[in-house]
Amino acid sequence: MAAKIVVTQPVHAEQLQRLRDAGHEVVALDSPHGLSPEELIEHTKDADALLSQLTDKLTADVFANTTLTIVATIATGYDNIDVAAAQKAKTTVTRTPDVLTDATADLAMTLMLSVARQIPESDASTREHGTGPFQLLREPMGIDISGATLGIVGLGRIGEALAHRAHFGFGMKILYTARSQHPAAEDRFGAVRLPLGQLLAQSDVVSLHAPLNDETRHLINRDTLKLMKPNAILINTGRGPLVNEKDLAEALLDNTIAGAGLDVFENEPDVHPDLLAAGTKTVLTPHIGSATAKTRLAMASLAVDNILAVLAGEPPLTPVG
Ligand code: DGY
Repeated sequence: MAAKIVVTQPVHAEQLQRLRDAGHEVVALDSPHGLSPEELIEHTKDADALLSQLTDKLTADVFANTTLTIVATIATGYDNIDVAAAQKAKTTVTRTPDVLTDATADLAMTLMLSVARQIPESDASTREHGTGPFQLLREPMGIDISGATLGIVGLGRIGEALAHRAHFGFGMKILYTARSQHPAAEDRFGAVRLPLGQLLAQSDVVSLHAPLNDETRHLINRDTLKLMKPNAILINTGRGPLVNEKDLAEALLDNTIAGAGLDVFENEPDVHPDLLAAGTKTVLTPHIGSATAKTRLAMASLAVDNILAVLAGEPPLTPVG
């Protein structure tokens, strides 16, 4: 049966065509930003499916005022969706795990190396002043990543892919926090599970991969930052609100920690001004963890697969929960 599918933001044309080819009506809103609950209700009142993104705010109100069969978010994280309200409204929610694991782990590794070796700053100074004379005792010096200790907060798929790169590529020792023990990661990488405080105290680099929820919001704050080593680097490619940005900026400015590589921010699209003031101690990127052409296409394609399956009465491929 033909269904009405609302698409909030721009998506690969060929993926939308797959929905039309299956006989469905596609309403592409092409919004340049995420939709508010009010906008979502207005546009999806009589829709069957929603192809959404992480900046759309799918609150309980949306599910109470629509009759959506499926919401397919083109993201692995779904903290923007009230999943309990969706379940109550009998709306299936799907996400796009796995297909973005490698790209996101690659970016976490890139940020780690960029901060440790001051790549943006070195690039800018070379463009402006040339290399200058070679100096054995140049300042500032970089930090070694090879052989250092990496603490992974949340050893899910992306955390594990980062552990693989860090351990086999850079000889890093792997520590992790997770709800449950990961015997496979312990066998493969010699990973050691620790409580958060001990992980922070022992790691040279801490990389955040936990989902955002009430328990993990502001996991990194003034108190937990104080547990970290003064030469440590914090990496966040997960969700911005895992970190209290004001506290992080303070910790960078007063040398509590050495640097931070951030791809996600507490109040996207804004970046806390104090973080900008931390200057060369931070490397900042605009939520591009999954932004390779192949990965973004795979994400869109998987979300469309989910919609087509559910509208055809089949089980979703990658449901939330
Ligand atoms: C996700 O999928 O949750 C990322 O943040 C965006 O790719």
